[in-house]
Amino acid sequence: MEPIIFSIETSCDETAVAILRGKNEVLSHLVVSQIDIHKVFGGVVPEIAARKHLNYLNNLTEKAFEEAEIEPEEISAIAVTYGPGLVGALLIGLNFAKGLALNLNKPLIGVNHLYGHIYANFLAFPELKPPFLVLLVSGGHTMILHAKDYLHFEIIGQTMDDAAGEAFDKVARMLNLGYPGGPKIDELSQKGEPIYEFPKPLYHKGYDFSFSGLKTALLYFTKENENYKIEDVAASFQKALIDTLIHKTIKASKDLKINDIIIAGGVAANSYLREKINEEKSRNKKLNIYFPPLNLCTDNALMIARAGYEKYIRNQFADLNLDAVPNLGLKDIC
Ligand code: KG4
Ligand code: ZN
Repeated sequence: MEPIIFSIETSCDETAVAILRGKNEVLSHLVVSQIDIHKVFGGVVPEIAARKHLNYLNNLTEKAFEEAEIEPEEISAIAVTYGPGLVGALLIGLNFAKGLALNLNKPLIGVNHLYGHIYANFLAFPELKPPFLVLLVSGGHTMILHAKDYLHFEIIGQTMDDAAGEAFDKVARMLNLGYPGGPKIDELSQKGEPIYEFPKPLYHKGYDFSFSGLKTALLYFTKENENYKIEDVAASFQKALIDTLIHKTIKASKDLKINDIIIAGGVAANSYLREKINEEKSRNKKLNIYFPPLNLCTDNALMIARAGYEKYIRNQFADLNLDAVPNLGLKDIC
């Protein structure tokens, strides 16, 4: 019989639960975004995020079981994000999961949030198999990974300073566009032209990234110039950042001779990134580049359930002492 995984994601400002049967049968997939609450502060307020998770989780869980038309006793395990993320936010989800596990006498599975983002692609593309390359681009991380096996990832390159999503968010704040910045810059860029040459730090150097210089260059540009169209500035910034991500990922694919590439994390929702990837695909027919559907790019619990499934079938369970690890890295993945 296929296992049924109930999952919880509360690492940042989305409260999410899901129920997944086997690898791909979605029984429930619920996300409550707190964006409207945090945007008045210009970013996520950790304590408010934690309190909202506490308010929402119980009702969301009840709704998930109603939607799935199963009883809580029928689940096989509970998967929960234990890091990386905001510690207070993680602790709420983790404690809720432990309470359920104790009450239902079901095993607990601790899932690395980054691993969840990667596995979002497996929900959409069940045929995916390692080895493949991953470009992981979220609010907190920017990495190129070599997936050698299902639970074995090697870091090929990563950011030395800001993450890609963080750069989008900070630049949006500089331009007074509000929070979260990625979608705002994406939208604005569609009305502008990338006519300004912003720096592409480390473009020709290895696989590591650095975005703080690009951010500073943009800050000086807006201070030293007056007659610019904000749409053009947004489009130029977006192009410099995304072109760098794509250039390095394609280089890694050539150097390592791996033609399967998956893109994961919130920035994978970017429309210019998606357009550029399609260009790369039409230029090199051997490349298979996958990115998750938009609703699975940003934080959700379905991806946590899918990643949890991989641990479930390998009997990788956590005990009830599992702690939240705010700076959990990828090497701690298993
Ligand atoms: O993966 P995610 O939901 O949360 C983390 O795990 O960090 O990613 C959120 C990040 C934010 O920085 C947000 O600005 C960015 O993803 N993002 C985008 C777009 N949609 C979300 N960045 C660029 N273009 C987008 N369309
Ligand atoms: Zn995330």
